[in-house]
Amino acid sequence: MERILRNDRPCWVLVGGRRRLGRALAEDLARDHDLVLTSSEPWGGETWVDDVSRTARIRTLQWNAEHPDLVSRMMADLDTLEADGWVISGAILLAGTFPASPLGTWTSEHLDATWRMNLSFPFLCAQALAPRLAEGACLQILLDTSIHQPWLQRLPYSAAKAGLAALVPGLAQLLAPKVRVVGHALGTLLPAEGSDVAFLASRTLLKRIGDPADLCRAVRFAADSPFLTGEVLTQDGGRRWVDR
Ligand SMILES: NC(=O)c1ccc[n+]([C@@H]2O[C@H](COP(=O)([O-])OP(=O)(O)OC[C@H]3O[C@@H](n4cnc5c(N)ncnc54)[C@H](OP(=O)(O)O)[C@@H]3O)[C@@H](O)[C@H]2O)c1
Repeated sequence: MERILRNDRPCWVLVGGRRRLGRALAEDLARDHDLVLTSSEPWGGETWVDDVSRTARIRTLQWNAEHPDLVSRMMADLDTLEADGWVISGAILLAGTFPASPLGTWTSEHLDATWRMNLSFPFLCAQALAPRLAEGACLQILLDTSIHQPWLQRLPYSAAKAGLAALVPGLAQLLAPKVRVVGHALGTLLPAEGSDVAFLASRTLLKRIGDPADLCRAVRFAADSPFLTGEVLTQDGGRRWVDR
């Protein structure tokens, strides 16, 4: 256990740890973790990062799915972290996009972009991180309840998340017993701009949308559950059990 801890603080990588759910997770985890946060853009000016840096060791990186040198940059950054003594005991892949793409609007460019961001990027991040994860680490991947019932206006996105639903058990087999892999299939926690929240809530059994705290609890549960791997945990308020 000593190998993966620094003064009892695990070090986790949050890919897409700057905004929205990534930021909510980072702020929660920084209470008792050191964090490596990635963003597609250069960092600077985030007062919340300065705030959490008072208690946690924070390293910020720029990993952009669209960048042609993405893989070599990830490798170089992970080498630097290792050389600087960071031992990574957890990683969460959050980065994604949520594009509306109704039937009739699909083009190869649009499909490539959606799948590059929501499927290829998590695959490449998982591949880069896997050999760097410490014994006992947990790799967690953000999916969507669309793996159970696809979003009909967002089928390319839903197909990408279905691909990640195959990655979770596959990677769990490839990385066991050293590293565990867990997915989170989420219903709406932070609605996209312009969403009809009341409608989304009405389409769940619990008649509400979720909250970033629901995800925080689940990632801590997964990290603390050494017999859990290859599973996708669904938190969608029962969306998939609502009659259409
Ligand atoms: N929000 C929800 O209610 C919800 C529901 C179901 C599933 N999820 C899943 O949960 C995860 C987080 O969702 P979210 O709503 O917080 O965020 P999101 O808007 O889906 O995106 C997450 C992050 O991806 C990063 N990103 C965008 N383009 C990128 C690029 N080219 N290269 C690298 N990173 C890029 C962005 O961070 P930067 O701008 O800093 O790069 C963005 O903050 C996603 O995988 C999403 O599919 C969310």
